[in-house]
Amino acid sequence: MSTPTSPPEGARALAWLETHGSPLYVYDLDEVERRARELMSVLPDGSRLLFSLKANPLPAVAQVLCGLGCDAEVSSPGELSVALGAGFSPERVLYSGPGKSAEEVRGALGLGVTRFSAESWTDLERVDRASRAARRCSRVLLRVNPDTPPMARLAMSGVSSQFGLDEAQWREGRERLAALSGIELLGVHVYQGTQLADVPALLSSLRLAFEAGESLVSALDLPFQVLDLGGGFPWPFATSGTGLDLAPLREPLARWAAERRRTASCELWFESGRRLCGSSGTLWATVLDVKHSKGKQYVVLDTGIHHLGGMSGLGRVPLVSVGVARAGAQVAREVLEEVNVVGPLCTPLDCFARNVKLPPLRVGDRVFVPNVGAYGATASLTGFLSRPPPVELAHRGGEVVAVHRLRWGHEPQARPASEGAQSEETR
Ligand SMILES: Cc1ncc(COP(=O)(O)O)c(C=O)c1O
Repeated sequence: MSTPTSPPEGARALAWLETHGSPLYVYDLDEVERRARELMSVLPDGSRLLFSLKANPLPAVAQVLCGLGCDAEVSSPGELSVALGAGFSPERVLYSGPGKSAEEVRGALGLGVTRFSAESWTDLERVDRASRAARRCSRVLLRVNPDTPPMARLAMSGVSSQFGLDEAQWREGRERLAALSGIELLGVHVYQGTQLADVPALLSSLRLAFEAGESLVSALDLPFQVLDLGGGFPWPFATSGTGLDLAPLREPLARWAAERRRTASCELWFESGRRLCGSSGTLWATVLDVKHSKGKQYVVLDTGIHHLGGMSGLGRVPLVSVGVARAGAQVAREVLEEVNVVGPLCTPLDCFARNVKLPPLRVGDRVFVPNVGAYGATASLTGFLSRPPPVELAHRGGEVVAVHRLRWGHEPQARPASEGAQSEETR
């Protein structure tokens, strides 16, 4: 694993650490814009790009992507609230996810959302019922799980999974679909998996998505208007480096779009979270302790798996690369030491890096982890050990535009009178 050598925001980030405290997520919104424009430039003309808020629901990030003309893909009331607050109109939101409760669907309808992705018959009929009750007509994508898996680290289709339905299960249900009066069938949705490794992997999975769309539309023979091809556009996570050049996607995607038959009139949608904001974020932290145990050196930081990569300790995602905030020339002269970089939580799982070579570190030194703008703060074990979430700062060209911290702690809940106890409020 490569060690990052130069801190991305350099001196500015060190000053923000002094002002806002450590640890600190720093997001460069210009970088979000650059990545969005780059991805849009390889998609076929007339396509729509949906920002998946699960990657980073920071309002400032969502605002940038809304301003660039993206639509929003949300999977919870919280993400919906951020999307609407960031300026996405409800008609530009797609509500997806395999476990939408009736209350959640009613809430989304009440806020004006009309587009849902249905992941099963139960899900579809729930949206239908809620829509009829609200006297609305929802526009629904049928999420399909194609028969072939993508070349993805975390495949979400082509394998047995909780996402979508096998094509045959939708195909058999033409009459059942026709009986649903609260919905209009908008199209087909495929999402293959995150972090597809290279251009061949992306092309083969997008090709499968085109084919799954064609096949379902032929089988159902309904006037679909949208083919959501998903994405899986990659970016390195918590390690240095840049993402794949996406330019080789442009020509084949345009050709396949033009060659469509049954879905020829469907608008093409693509989804992305990681590619749009992964590179924009850096987590800055401070060394709290340096100690030795049975021949090994431990560098203890003020951040850990409660702020980044919560599942890395469980082996679900790779350990991260830590860079040291010292001038590159100075680092080059230093004799590297082998260390374990760990966090402050009372568990051996709280480990960012094992047996890595870093310049000698002292208490108070600043370190950073690059490429954590996606699946960083909110994909971590935020509640574990009850330490505060990190502060998150967004800037454009060095000018701070927003500073946030996730809410934290237990909220008292009113107790029903039938429990025979006074509610928290009346005690
Ligand atoms: C349905 C759906 N769309 C989009 C995404 C975003 O993926 P990525 O961040 O890799 O672009 C995901 C991620 O799990 C997803 O499940």
